[in-house]
Amino acid sequence: MENKITVQDILSLKGTRKITMLTAYDYPLGSLIDRAGIDMILVGDSVANVVLGLDSTTKVGMTEMLHHAKAVTRAVKHALVIGDMPYDSYQVNPQESLKNARRFITEANCEAVKLEWFDRCLEVTEKIIQAGIPVMGHIGLTPQTAEKEGGFKVRGKDAEAAQRLIEQAQALEKLGCFSIVLECVPDKISQIITQRLKIPTIGIGAGVHCDGQVLVTYDLLGLFERFTPKFVKKYINLSPLILKAIQDYKLEVTEEKFPAPEHSFLIKEEELKKLDI
Ligand code: KIV
Repeated sequence: MENKITVQDILSLKGTRKITMLTAYDYPLGSLIDRAGIDMILVGDSVANVVLGLDSTTKVGMTEMLHHAKAVTRAVKHALVIGDMPYDSYQVNPQESLKNARRFITEANCEAVKLEWFDRCLEVTEKIIQAGIPVMGHIGLTPQTAEKEGGFKVRGKDAEAAQRLIEQAQALEKLGCFSIVLECVPDKISQIITQRLKIPTIGIGAGVHCDGQVLVTYDLLGLFERFTPKFVKKYINLSPLILKAIQDYKLEVTEEKFPAPEHSFLIKEEELKKLDI
């Protein structure tokens, strides 16, 4: 497809301008994000929290992720679309990881996959990259294992933990990842990682020094009301606007103001007269 952003384009953006990435889970938002010129669209497993009302990203599997990914890729003409590998597709079943990564490419038409750091991350990442599938890494706060690793907190706050993050980033780069998400990492540590890597870093709660930024779109649109992480900036608060529109609709239906004549279909009087009633 003409003008489709490639992994190579993302790599060459490092040091030239900031890279933009947002999440999408369906056709309408996928299309709007694409038309706004965002570089990468992540079909994130955050769909579990922000769309499906679940309390953990580990509760979505391949069926849900492929369903959403297909809707997004149908809409997107330019952005690079990345499928977020759900927890059980590679952490519970590392032996199934390549097969599942391939499904994002062949069935859902994604161009790359993302996976979160876990104890067998390097082995799984290597297998997927060697099969020719571009991989985006994800280190720092990794929501799929956050409970097990001490909760939803900033990572890399002491020298030992920060050192580990730097080593993880370098190991992922060495394996051939084309970029790495840094989630909830002190800005100075993101800066060090960003300076040391040749591949772009994409931050979420990781400060201004990353090569790019990602947010969960429902957060920036004010469509997720359960909680707002410190790193989120709401660019608009859509929930009250949508609520008001739905309340207006309800009122107009009950007061018989909707549908108005312009929303109704007419039949000619002479045709009505022919009815046998
Ligand atoms: O699932 C998701 O939305 C993510 C982003 C927060 C990076 O992994």
